[in-house]
Amino acid sequence: MDDQDLARRGVLPDPARAPAGRMRWVALVVGTGLAVQLGGCGRTSPSALDPHGPGAERVAGLWWLLFWISAVVFVVVCLLVAVALARRRGDRDTLVRRGGGELLIVAGGVVMPAIVLTAVYVVGLRDLRALTVPEGTDLTVEVTGHDWWWEVRYPRDGIVSANEIHIPAGRPVKLVLTSEDVIHSFWVPQLTVKTDLVPGHTNTTWIQASSPGTYRGQCAEYCGLQHAKMAILVVAEPPDAYAGWLEAERRPAVAAGDPMAVRGRLALERNSCAACHTVRGTAATGTLGPDLTHFGGRRTIGAGALPNTRGNLGGWIVNSQTVKPGNKMPPQPLTPEELQDLLAYLERLE
Ligand code: CUA
Repeated sequence: MDDQDLARRGVLPDPARAPAGRMRWVALVVGTGLAVQLGGCGRTSPSALDPHGPGAERVAGLWWLLFWISAVVFVVVCLLVAVALARRRGDRDTLVRRGGGELLIVAGGVVMPAIVLTAVYVVGLRDLRALTVPEGTDLTVEVTGHDWWWEVRYPRDGIVSANEIHIPAGRPVKLVLTSEDVIHSFWVPQLTVKTDLVPGHTNTTWIQASSPGTYRGQCAEYCGLQHAKMAILVVAEPPDAYAGWLEAERRPAVAAGDPMAVRGRLALERNSCAACHTVRGTAATGTLGPDLTHFGGRRTIGAGALPNTRGNLGGWIVNSQTVKPGNKMPPQPLTPEELQDLLAYLERLE
């Protein structure tokens, strides 16, 4: 029984049809790969290819270098595959006998990868070196990962906040990262590389924004049910605005003036809120949840789960489990009046 008989019975691929069949598979795999890649690029997602700081610029440069090298290699390999598929077996035998096959294998399988990988390694080392904390960086922010939010501390100023880092634009800021529970990863694509937050260990990285703006970051290490809802905002401000923010954050919570807010503060202190949250200057000194001293000034609730509006906050307090199931805040059995008072108070904590 020869090859043609085997092909007719489906044991071997039909030589006459094989090239077209293989080409279809190649097209399918390439098409699917491209669709998956492009599907991940939403217009509103922050992109590492839209850098707004020196660290991210390095990363973007490296990304494009790798992209173009990969593109060239991909095209060359596709061409070689197409040539190989187009040749008949006899031609291939002739090629191998002439020694062309060995030359191709040595050039394409040894020499070319050695040159490309060495070049990429050298460039990678150069960028790694450039991404260490710049000398003279005097501003430090400590970030601790929790399931599923970020604790943010400014040790020099005694400030504790959550899920938002304010920085002065144009200045490098050192970040000291650790975790309270599992491994998380700090990633603000437009500003810096990913750095893990590891329990019992501190990692150091830095961020710098070239211009004022709000840059969204995301936990980049799977850390449990609400990993996707563990966002962080970096707010880069002009030096004056940053100094003003720092001054306001240093102060304890503003004294509630109107009767509603006064009742709200009492509701916060009397209910279970105070067991988990701190509001500096009140009887609420819990440390399980985010510090709420200046909560009213923050842009989001639940580490980016919702915009910080009165309606969203009310829903979150009543039952945050409907928004972010599995988070540590239990539903709060407040009366409607208590809830309104509490909202009035929290809104004033700017
Ligand atoms: Cu924290 Cu993923």
